[in-house]
Amino acid sequence: MLTAKEIAKDIWWVGAIDWNERLFHGYTTEKGITYNAYLIMDEKVTLIDTAKAPFADELMARISQVVDPAKIDVVISNHVEMDHSGSLPVVAKACPNAEFYASPKGCEGLRAHYGDIADFKPLKTGDTLSIGQRTLTFVETPMVHWPDNMVTYDVTDKILFSNDAFGQHFASSKHFDVENDMCEIMKQARKYYANIVQPYGMQAKKALDVVKTLELSMICPAHGVIWTEHIGDILAAYEEFTSGKVVDKAAIIYDSMWKSTEKMAKAICEAFVEENVTAQYINLNDTHESDILLYTLDAKYLCVGSPTLNMQMMPNVSKFLTYYRGLSPRNANRVGIAFGSYGWAPKGPKDVAQVLADCGFQMPVDTLTHQWIPTQAYLDSIQETVREAIAKSE
Ligand code: FEO
Repeated sequence: MLTAKEIAKDIWWVGAIDWNERLFHGYTTEKGITYNAYLIMDEKVTLIDTAKAPFADELMARISQVVDPAKIDVVISNHVEMDHSGSLPVVAKACPNAEFYASPKGCEGLRAHYGDIADFKPLKTGDTLSIGQRTLTFVETPMVHWPDNMVTYDVTDKILFSNDAFGQHFASSKHFDVENDMCEIMKQARKYYANIVQPYGMQAKKALDVVKTLELSMICPAHGVIWTEHIGDILAAYEEFTSGKVVDKAAIIYDSMWKSTEKMAKAICEAFVEENVTAQYINLNDTHESDILLYTLDAKYLCVGSPTLNMQMMPNVSKFLTYYRGLSPRNANRVGIAFGSYGWAPKGPKDVAQVLADCGFQMPVDTLTHQWIPTQAYLDSIQETVREAIAKSE
C-alpha cells in the first residue's frame, strides 16, 4: 500500500488514490481520481478532510502509520460531498476525543448525511483555531463546489487546504506538481473547472480574490497534485477561467443519421476556418461531452447540429445539451448557431436552437435547416451565413 507522505514538516498526506475510477457524476476521469486528506502533527493532532467511503480502511491505515487515530484532536471537513466526507463515520468511531468542524452549511449537510456521529461545530469566514504551534483560519467558498464549501489556511506554514478549488482528477503516486507532467496537470485542472466549477464562475472569482491576498507556500487541494512551484500558474489559470472571457474559437458539435447534418457541420467548420476563426469539428459519437467542455470553456461560437428523429433531436445531441445547459456560463458573451437536416419537419434543429437560446446564447442567424440531402450550392451558401453570424456578434 502507498504510504503516508510528509509533504511539509509535520504535515502528512494520508488520502487515497482511486486509480481506476473513470466517471465522476457524468464526467470522464481518464486519469483516475485522488481523495487527498491531510494530517497535521501539532499539539492538537488535526485531520483535514477524509476520503470516499470505500477508501476508509486505506485512510485509517495511512493515518496509523503516523499516529494512533485515537490521538486525533481535531477533524476539519471542508466539504460535505461524499468523495471527501465518506469516511467520516469511520473516523468518528476511531477518534472518540476529536472535535469536528465544518462551515455552518457543512455542519447541516454532514448531519443530514451521517446523523449524530459527531457534534459538528461551525466555522465561519475569519474564524481561527489554534492547534499548538499553528493557527488555522477559514474562508467559506460557497458553490466551489457546493453551498457548504470552505477552505482552511494554515497561517503559520502558509499552506492552503483548498478542497475542490484548484483540484484536478489525476491519480499519481507523486504528490507534487513538479513531479508530474505539467501539460497534463494543467489540462486536467481546466477540465475539472469546466465540468465542476464553471456554472459558479462568479463565486469562484470571489474565492480566488481572497486566495490571492494570502501568502502561499503550497496549495493542497483535495483532488490531484499539490501546487508548489506552479502556484502562479494555477492562480493565473483560474483568473482566466473565472473571467468568462471568450476567444475567437468555434466548436461544431453534431450527430447525424445519413450524413446530411454531417455535411452541414463540415461546411460550417470550413466556413469558420475561412474567416480565420479556429474551429473544432466534433462528432458526438466520438467525443465525450466532458471533453467537449474542455474545448468550449472559452469558445465564442457553439454550433450544434441535429437532424430530426421522431419529431425531436437525436438522443446524443439531447444528452450533450442537457449536460451543457447545467454547466453553461451565466455571464457569457457567446454566439450559438443551430443546424440540421430533416425529412419532413425541422423539429430537431429548432429544438436545438431553443436550448441554445435558453442557455443565453446570442442567436444572430436563423437556424440552418435543409430538407433531405444538402446540395453543394446550399453548402456553399453556409459561408455567407457564418460570415453574417460573425459580423453580427462583433
Ligand atoms: Fe470533490 Fe464537490 O467534491
